[in-house]
Amino acid sequence: MDTDLLEETANFLVGPGRGILAADESNGTMSKRLEGVGVASSPESRNAYRANLFAMPTMSEAISGVILYDETIRQQAVDGTSIPDYLHARNVLPGIKVDTGAKPLAGHENETVTEGLDGLRERCAEYFSMGARFAKWRAVIKIGNGLPSDACISTNAHALARYAAICQEQGLVPIIEPEVLMEGNHDAARCYDVTVDALSATWDECKIQGVYLPGVLLKPNMVLPGKDHSTRIDVETCARMTVDLLHEHVPHEIPGIVFLSGGQTEVEATAHLNMMNNMGPHPFELSYSYGRALQATTLKTWADNQNDLSKSHSVFAHRCKMAHLARFGKWSEDLEA
Ligand code: G3H
Repeated sequence: MDTDLLEETANFLVGPGRGILAADESNGTMSKRLEGVGVASSPESRNAYRANLFAMPTMSEAISGVILYDETIRQQAVDGTSIPDYLHARNVLPGIKVDTGAKPLAGHENETVTEGLDGLRERCAEYFSMGARFAKWRAVIKIGNGLPSDACISTNAHALARYAAICQEQGLVPIIEPEVLMEGNHDAARCYDVTVDALSATWDECKIQGVYLPGVLLKPNMVLPGKDHSTRIDVETCARMTVDLLHEHVPHEIPGIVFLSGGQTEVEATAHLNMMNNMGPHPFELSYSYGRALQATTLKTWADNQNDLSKSHSVFAHRCKMAHLARFGKWSEDLEA
């Protein structure tokens, strides 16, 4: 294992003022998103949308890495070069989603285990040779009546740790993502407890598998009540609960936390990160790996203005700038006007 390379990559990804753009939506998810804004989904339209995104002139001020999907890493940028080469040339590292999705967990209705370990070593080696320097694997933990089960927590933790060990062997920094979903009517305290359980099980498994923690990034959910819960919490409470949880339940050798947005609006995800960065010092960088919270308005704007790409670039530039400021705790709501 090349621990120097892994540390260098992980620290680069959470460098000052920068974070990760999650553009690794599977073809199924991307098709839904495109159709939602009135665009037919095809390899060409997915390529056109993403290549335009990556060509935004100031992207690299706020984006250190982009997570790609298998289709995208094989596609071309606006100048005809391969997307991974194009990103490297812009001082942005290409990453790759390597799990093959959340599949029904046997014997546990409504729960899933994320698959993709078979052949993972060979796929990682190929992605590394194509220029990828980090990877992502997302486990899904649902809160509900009697959920999550111990089986869901432990199978997903085991798979995350085996994935992380294989990635590191192949020179890729693994992003470990045990996502506790916002769906449901649980309160924030329940989200806190389940997130602690999922993280604790994951670190135990990482220890058994010999995962090198300074060469790992964690992609967690923030602590929030379920979408259907009657009581919301304010920005400060979410930030305080999330920071306390991370300080106590994440090994401090990890160089950075890159949050998912998980269905929060663009402004909510930015406000929460900003508040957390104002609560420092922290033992690790607090950054982003947002999908929807960086892309939602940009996708709509692109769909409506395909003849004038400067419009979607300017919306994406704004979102990137807001996330960049939140890395320093310097964002404020009036900047959104
Ligand atoms: O795995 C989840 C995605 O990479 C992040 O997407 O920020 O829209 O939750 P999200």
